[in-house]
Amino acid sequence: MKILLTGASGRLGSECEQVLKRDYEVIAPDKEEFDITSWDKVITSISQLSPDIILNCAAFTKVDECETERKVAERINVEGPRNLAQGAARYDKVIVHISSDFVFNGRKRIPQPYFEDDPMDPLSFYGLTKMESEMAVKQNAPNYIIVRVGWLYGMRGDNFPKKLLTLALKDKGESISVVNDQFGSPTWSYRVARQIKLLIDSGKEGIYHATSEGYCSRYEWARYFLEKMEIKTSLVPCTTKDYPTPAMRPANSILENRQLKREGLNIMPTWQKDLDAFIDEYGEKLLRGEGV
Ligand SMILES: NC(=O)c1ccc[n+]([C@@H]2O[C@H](COP(=O)([O-])OP(=O)(O)OC[C@H]3O[C@@H](n4cnc5c(N)ncnc54)[C@H](OP(=O)(O)O)[C@@H]3O)[C@@H](O)[C@H]2O)c1
Repeated sequence: MKILLTGASGRLGSECEQVLKRDYEVIAPDKEEFDITSWDKVITSISQLSPDIILNCAAFTKVDECETERKVAERINVEGPRNLAQGAARYDKVIVHISSDFVFNGRKRIPQPYFEDDPMDPLSFYGLTKMESEMAVKQNAPNYIIVRVGWLYGMRGDNFPKKLLTLALKDKGESISVVNDQFGSPTWSYRVARQIKLLIDSGKEGIYHATSEGYCSRYEWARYFLEKMEIKTSLVPCTTKDYPTPAMRPANSILENRQLKREGLNIMPTWQKDLDAFIDEYGEKLLRGEGV
């Protein structure tokens, strides 16, 4: 099987490339070679490379910047997936597209989770583009898999635990405030890549949630992570109101992997188990600042 992967330099795309290339031929052009916003590039590449699957991990993910850079966000997050979906349809390919917990408004009472068929109602412009990306894929490609993820971490790029670690290691006796009123499921991007591979192998299609089992607040995530890393620092719980950001975040980002479970495909462990495994494997490297 041949897979055309976009966004392979990104946090999730890099994990997908590593996981998928063990069994498949993976073609992972960079943004310059394969700009998803260029219809000509997309259609020529799909026609020439003739992949079985197009896996789209490319996106504009700077959530706050999306509020001001609306045209760029719209181009990369909506027009890009639309081009890929139309290309997939024209050459009878399957498209696997990655979406986000930010398509929901997060107003369900904690700990009620969001299911695949809950109505989308994004709070931010980024969330709006991800919702529209899903619609573009569904409307244009007869064969699609949409995978919604959230609260990702891993070795590649910026993420919450890495930022926290940088702050904690600089600790000058000051406490670190972390919001305690946003809930979700910390999810290792490597595990999502494994889950995507299993979905592809299964031949199933549709919309899937793929996050770790269980949930916590950002503050609880921070505390668990720093304790496992054996770093002593003073963490203080605070509220979202104390830290206003340009883009609103959902208070409840808990996604239930209902569809994966129904089909016997769910391999996502609890968030604590996977964070332990991640720290066992990469904790030393993180302390040495080796994450790329
Ligand atoms: N990270 C999270 O916590 C999170 C949460 C929910 C959902 N998601 C979703 O998961 C997916 C992957 O996110 P991520 O965090 O891995 O993203 P990321 O680290 O920001 O990577 C984005 C990738 O997209 C590429 N890209 C940007 N514009 C492009 C274009 N016009 N044509 C081709 N490639 C382009 C980037 O290339 P360059 O490196 O060259 O710019 C990079 O490889 C996205 O759909 C995102 O919405 C992520």
